[in-house]
Amino acid sequence: MCGIVGYIGDQEAYPILIKGLHRLEYRGYDSAGISLINNKGELNVYKAKGKVSALEKSVEGKDISGTIGIAHTRWATHGEPNTTNAHPHFSQSKNLSLVHNGIIENYKPLRTELEKNGMTFCSETDTEVLVQLVEFMMVSHKCDLYNAVQLALKNVVGAYAIAILEKSHPDQIVCARKGSPLIIGVGKDKTSGRPEFYIGSDATPIIEYTNQVIYLNDEEIAIMNRAGLLDITNLSNVKQTPQLVTLQMNLDQLEKGGYPHFMLKEIWEQPDALRTCIRGRIDKAEKDVLLSGIIDHRDKFINCRRIIICACGTSWHSALIGKYFIEEACQIPVEVEYASEFRYRNPVIHPDDIVIAVSQSGETADTLAAIQLAKEKGAFLYGICNVIGSSIPRATHSGTYLHVGPEIGVASTKAFTGQVITLCLLGLAIAKEKKTLSNEMFHMLVDELQQIPDKIQWTLENNKNIDQFAQMFTYCKNFIYLGRGYNYPVALEGALKLKEISYIHAEGYPAAEMKHGPIALIDEEMPVVVIAPKHGMYEKVVSNIQEIKSRKGKIISVITEDDTVVKNMSDYSFVIPDTRDCFVPLLAVIPLQLLSYYVAIAKGRNVDQPRNLAKSVTVE
Ligand code: G6P
Repeated sequence: MCGIVGYIGDQEAYPILIKGLHRLEYRGYDSAGISLINNKGELNVYKAKGKVSALEKSVEGKDISGTIGIAHTRWATHGEPNTTNAHPHFSQSKNLSLVHNGIIENYKPLRTELEKNGMTFCSETDTEVLVQLVEFMMVSHKCDLYNAVQLALKNVVGAYAIAILEKSHPDQIVCARKGSPLIIGVGKDKTSGRPEFYIGSDATPIIEYTNQVIYLNDEEIAIMNRAGLLDITNLSNVKQTPQLVTLQMNLDQLEKGGYPHFMLKEIWEQPDALRTCIRGRIDKAEKDVLLSGIIDHRDKFINCRRIIICACGTSWHSALIGKYFIEEACQIPVEVEYASEFRYRNPVIHPDDIVIAVSQSGETADTLAAIQLAKEKGAFLYGICNVIGSSIPRATHSGTYLHVGPEIGVASTKAFTGQVITLCLLGLAIAKEKKTLSNEMFHMLVDELQQIPDKIQWTLENNKNIDQFAQMFTYCKNFIYLGRGYNYPVALEGALKLKEISYIHAEGYPAAEMKHGPIALIDEEMPVVVIAPKHGMYEKVVSNIQEIKSRKGKIISVITEDDTVVKNMSDYSFVIPDTRDCFVPLLAVIPLQLLSYYVAIAKGRNVDQPRNLAKSVTVE
C-alpha cells in the first residue's frame, strides 16, 4: 500500500518522479503528491486527490523544477483520501517534507505529546506526526536530520518506509524502513557521469535508469547526496555495509506491450510466464524435478510432520490447490491458513512443521507477520513469492521464486497460475525425496505439468469470443461459482476475480454444498458458473448442474473440449483441453479470468485499478 519514489542527481527530478509514480500506482491511487527543491533552494509540495494524472494536471503552470525530489501515491489508512491528507507532509516550519508507506501505530500519543510542545497539525494522518516528530528531535536535540530521524524512529511503533527532504540541505535525501519495502538505485548520470540515486518502494521506478540496487533492511537509515555519498546505519547508529544487487528485470516487462490493460496482457502472457517458471526446474529429458530449495533442506522436508501454508487473497486460493496436491502426492498433512487469522491466534507449531508463505508481492503485512510468528515458534520457513528481494523471501529459510515477471494489474492472474505450478513442483520434489509416488506416476505428472503452458495457450486461443458473451451479464447483481475437489479453489478464485474488477457480488462454493444454502438463491436471474471437467467427480457435478437447471438458473460451464453432455445442458460453455485432475485448475481458471475481465470492461470499470483495492497490502 502506498508507493514511494525519490531522486537526487543532475537530471530534472519531476519527470522521473511522475513516471515512477505511474509505475507504483498499483500500490494505491487515492491521492498523489510530489516535493521538489528548486535551484533557488525553495521546497515545493504539490498534492492532488485521486490518481497521478490528477496531480499532473494540478501542477500545470507551477514551478516543478529541481534535481532533487520525493513523491508518493497513497492508499488511505488514516484520514480520508483528500488533498490535505495526501503526502508529502510538511513539518511545522516547512523545512522538511516527508513521504511514508506503512502505519505508525502509536501516532495518537505521539501527536498529543507534540501538541503539548506547541506543534500544530493540518491533517488526520499518522505520517504528519512522523515528520513533526523528526523536526521536534532536530530542534530539541540540536542535531542534524540524520540523527533526528534515528531518534524519532526509536520512538515509533509500527511499520514505515520513509523519504525526507530538508530545505536547508538541498543536496541530500534521508530514507529509512521497517516493515515496508524500500530500495535504493545507484546510477550514473548519462551526460555528466556524476553519481545519482533513486528511491522506490520496488524496483519498477528504478529499472529504467539503473539495475544496481540496494535493498534497505528493517531499521536501517540511509543518507545519500549529490557527491555520491551513501551512508547506511541502523537505529543504534552502527554503520552497515550496503550490498549492491543487480536486478534481473527489463523495462518491456513493465509496459502494456500493445494490450489495453495490464490484466489482459498478463492473462495472455501466462504460457510464456509459466514456461519461465518451469525452466530449470523440470529436466525434460529425465522427467525430473530439481528444486534447490528442497535439495538443500532435504532432511527437513523428509522428516516434516505437517505443512502450514499462510497466505491472503488469491494466494490463499492457490495455497488450497497446493494443499490438495501435496497431501495427495506426499502424504503430508497440509493446513491452509489466512495469514491475518493465523498471526493473531496462538497456533500450535512444532519444530518439525514447515510453514510456507505464498505471496505474489512478498510484502503482504499479514503474511509477513504470520511467518515471523512461526519463526519465533521454531518452524522452518519456506517462501513462494514473485517479487525478487522482497521482504518475505528475505525472512524465510528457503524458498522458490515464481519467475513469472512483474504483475502490475491489481487482480492477480499469472501469479496465481505461477503459484499453483510452483506448489505442484514443490509437491513433486518432496514426493521424489519421500518416495511417496511410484516412478511411473511421478514421471507422468512431470510430463503433464510441462505441457501445461501449451494447453493454456490452447485455452486462450479457443475461448476468444468471451468478450461478446460477457456483454450479456453486465446487468447481473450476483453470480455463483461451483467446483469440486481441485476445482473448488478455482470457483473461489473465479468469484474473487469477478468481485474485484466488475463489483458484481459473487460467491464460490464447493458444488455439493450448494444444497445447504446457496440453492435458495437460484432463479432465472442467477448465472451459475460450474467447473465441470471430465474427471473424478464429473457425474456428481452433472447432477449438481441438473439441480440448478430445474430451478431455471443459467449455466455457464467450463468443460473438457469433447464433452457434449455438459455442453448441451449449459447456456454457455468454455472449453479446456484434457489434463490430469490435479492440473485442471491451471486451465479452468483461464476462461474465468477472461470472463471477469470482459464483464468489467463491458461495465466500464477501471480493470487495472479497481476501486478501494491495492496490489500490495503492506498494512494489516
Ligand atoms: C491484495 C491483492 C490480491 C492478492 C492479495 C495477496 O488483496 O489485490 O491480488 O492476492 O493482496 O497479495 P500477495 O502479494 O501476498 O499475494
